[in-house]
Amino acid sequence: MSEIASISVNGKSHELPVITGTENEQAIDISKLRDISSIITIDPGFKNTGATKSAITFLDGEQGILRYRGYPIEQLAEHSTFLEVTYLLIYGELPTADTLQDFRNKISRHTLIHEDMKKFFDGFPSKSHPMGQLSCLVGALSAFYPESLNPNPSEEEENLSIIKLLAKMPTIVSWIYKKSLGHPVIYPKNNLNYVHNFLNMTFGQITEDITVDKAVVDAMHTLLILHADHEQNCSTSTVRIVGSSNANLYASVSAGISALWGPLHGGANQAVIEMLENIKNDGGGSAKWLAKAKDKNDSFRLMGFGHRVYKNFDPRAKIIKKACDDVLERLGINDPVLDIAKELEEAALKDQYFVDRKLYPNVDFYSGIIYRALGFPTDMFTVLFALGRLPGWIAQWREMRANKEPIGRPRQVYMGHTTRDYVTLNQR
Ligand code: SDX
Repeated sequence: MSEIASISVNGKSHELPVITGTENEQAIDISKLRDISSIITIDPGFKNTGATKSAITFLDGEQGILRYRGYPIEQLAEHSTFLEVTYLLIYGELPTADTLQDFRNKISRHTLIHEDMKKFFDGFPSKSHPMGQLSCLVGALSAFYPESLNPNPSEEEENLSIIKLLAKMPTIVSWIYKKSLGHPVIYPKNNLNYVHNFLNMTFGQITEDITVDKAVVDAMHTLLILHADHEQNCSTSTVRIVGSSNANLYASVSAGISALWGPLHGGANQAVIEMLENIKNDGGGSAKWLAKAKDKNDSFRLMGFGHRVYKNFDPRAKIIKKACDDVLERLGINDPVLDIAKELEEAALKDQYFVDRKLYPNVDFYSGIIYRALGFPTDMFTVLFALGRLPGWIAQWREMRANKEPIGRPRQVYMGHTTRDYVTLNQR
């Protein structure tokens, strides 16, 4: 027996179906509300509004649970690889050894980008932000692969666009970094696995490949897995709504990259390190900065803290914090901002303002410290978030299309002038 919600408004009562998900989450289905009542709902920021029914990722913000296709993030981070998690998110099941090898082979055939794309890199000012470059370059892929523009591709054609994007993203990301240094780009090597190949293109030299510490490769796998999907966050919702107009995959992901760039979203990992550096240089302990974060007249926020969904620990933050300790110890790095981050966390978790608002460290609070330890510059951190989030964006875009969801077009409540007549210029 399915639940029914009833609302009464303007003296009339209306009944609406309630849907229940596999984890017993419930939602009032308002898709017919306007038809039966002439009334809509409004929810700025969609804090209480579900945009879709999805089978990809499950979050429980109160319990601090995150699962990809039912598998707990803790187990995937410990036992899986980024390419295996990529396959799981996009196609729904963990691959067999043969399927994974076939997936890896398909990707390795498409890691090069068109040589004419190098002209795009040359056109960017040397210090232009990597996220702006990435959004532009990913969108430009549709110019080189016009078959991706087909709004109704076959499954094979859609899969080819997916494979191409997965294959070329590491190349684009590493070349953005190399160009920022004025160094020659390093071409992909198909004998290396996905993460090792990315690290070699990023930190290798034209004269020699890098020898990568296993701890660095493992840390990169963990970071990419932890960022791979997060249900209907801002950038993923952007990818879905752009894709809902039948825009191609590259255009949809390019839009998602732009949404991720914001410091309230993926850009927070860069903002956290900048904040920690400021605190270190200021010499002021956590108390001064927590006070600023609580002061409504101060625009300062404790970056890397708080989350729309998690009202408990972000499980990813816990894993990254431990990985931080492991990687810095293994690499023999003593980064003072890690101590500042831990001091801030400890103080905030005891502070009533943060406790009352259930503000905990999120995925961005510690990730930048590892990225820095691995050798990445701060302005590359959000690009690394995008590299990790790519499979999630693709999986969600593919699910939206497979479910034949309608074009996203929210309504509004108009608050402007009621009708009025035009006044000629000489009468104003
Ligand atoms: C990501 O959605 C996702 O899943 C995102 C993500 C993913 O994987 O895709 O998890 C990745 O984007 C993580 C979040 C990274 N952003 C930051 O770390 C930026 C700092 N955090 C905040 O700006 C904020 O917490 C948000 C944006 C993350 C969430 O904002 P909400 O849900 O809109 O909450 P809010 O801004 O309404 O805050 C509620 C209260 C407010 O105080 P009151 O008005 O009730 O007095 O909490 C306060 C806020 O002022 N608050 C903070 C704070 N975050 C919230 N106060 C100080 N410092 C903070 N960081």
